[in-house]
Amino acid sequence: MTEWDRNDPASYDAAARGTAELEVSGTDIIGPVVRDGLTSTPKTLPPFLFYDAVGSGLFEKITKLPEYYPTRVERSILESRAGEIARMAISHAGRNVSVLELGAGSATKTQVLLRALVAEQGATTFLPADVSGAALDAAESRLARELPEVKVHPLLAAHPQALAAGRERDDALLVVFLGSSLGNYDEHSAIELLADIRATLGPTGSLLLGTDAVKPLDVLLPAYDDSKGVTASFNKNVLARINRELGGGFDLDRFGHVAVWNEELSRIEMHLESSVDQVVPIDDLGLEVAFEAKERIHTESSYKYDTARLDRMFSQAGLARECEFYDPEHWFRLTMARPA
Ligand SMILES: C[S@@+](CC[C@H](N)C(=O)[O-])C[C@H]1O[C@@H](n2cnc3c(N)ncnc32)[C@H](O)[C@@H]1O
Repeated sequence: MTEWDRNDPASYDAAARGTAELEVSGTDIIGPVVRDGLTSTPKTLPPFLFYDAVGSGLFEKITKLPEYYPTRVERSILESRAGEIARMAISHAGRNVSVLELGAGSATKTQVLLRALVAEQGATTFLPADVSGAALDAAESRLARELPEVKVHPLLAAHPQALAAGRERDDALLVVFLGSSLGNYDEHSAIELLADIRATLGPTGSLLLGTDAVKPLDVLLPAYDDSKGVTASFNKNVLARINRELGGGFDLDRFGHVAVWNEELSRIEMHLESSVDQVVPIDDLGLEVAFEAKERIHTESSYKYDTARLDRMFSQAGLARECEFYDPEHWFRLTMARPA
């Protein structure tokens, strides 16, 4: 099975057709993905599994850590450029635009952009899409309080289902994909996802993409291995989630959080490393998973891009870069792109 398949499990269909009241959880939804990942060699678990209510809460804590520069820096770029971005999207569409955000989470950064769109066009519609119902609830209630000019329609959906929902609408869309989440995908899968976005944009839509840049390791590594151990808890939550939802028997103290830089592939990798030889039962799957000491489960990749590589990926997906915005240190970039 490819990484793309694991990031887009067919088992999400039921949840994607539902509403934000549905939780993406339970044996039917995550069981096949966990079975597939823990019976493959090497063992892997896809990053969307981090994000149940506990994981989404831990991710919010990560975004506030001093070591976790991506949220802070991406937000600072948005704060200085949101007006320009809003005007570009509206001018390209030739009419008011709605925002469809993939993996929106709590959408706190997106609120900066939504405010700028409201300033330009009086109101807007926001379609935050995410696999975490808890994160969508947080986004919806905060926006209702703080930015009532925005009409919010949450979509409990994996990215392809969210894009399919976008294609059914008549609005001119600004598709937003922040937090360097594209970097969770291997290049082939990332290009497929970009092509799917391209197909959703139609002739008048725009993409706003946030991606992380290569930078010194003394900045990169602590962002994925902070001194308070919040990222370690976030990583281990995937095992805790398997215990909660699938009757798993993981002892979290027998796994360590590992973050490494893979120079060849230009990516940070997060792993969970078994500290001993052990066999872990997952009762609801009727599975016993054997680990050797030091054996790892690969839980996340986070690719770091330069502009040339992104441009190649855009071009293969039928997109063209319109412009790029950076912070002063060039740690993070926001790219506006549209159909080529
Ligand atoms: C790293 S967080 C980023 C949140 C927010 N966009 C930001 O920039 O802070 C990734 C978000 O994407 C969601 N997510 C992860 N994989 C997903 C998938 N395959 N489909 C839809 N949402 C996904 C998670 O639930 C989480 O809220």
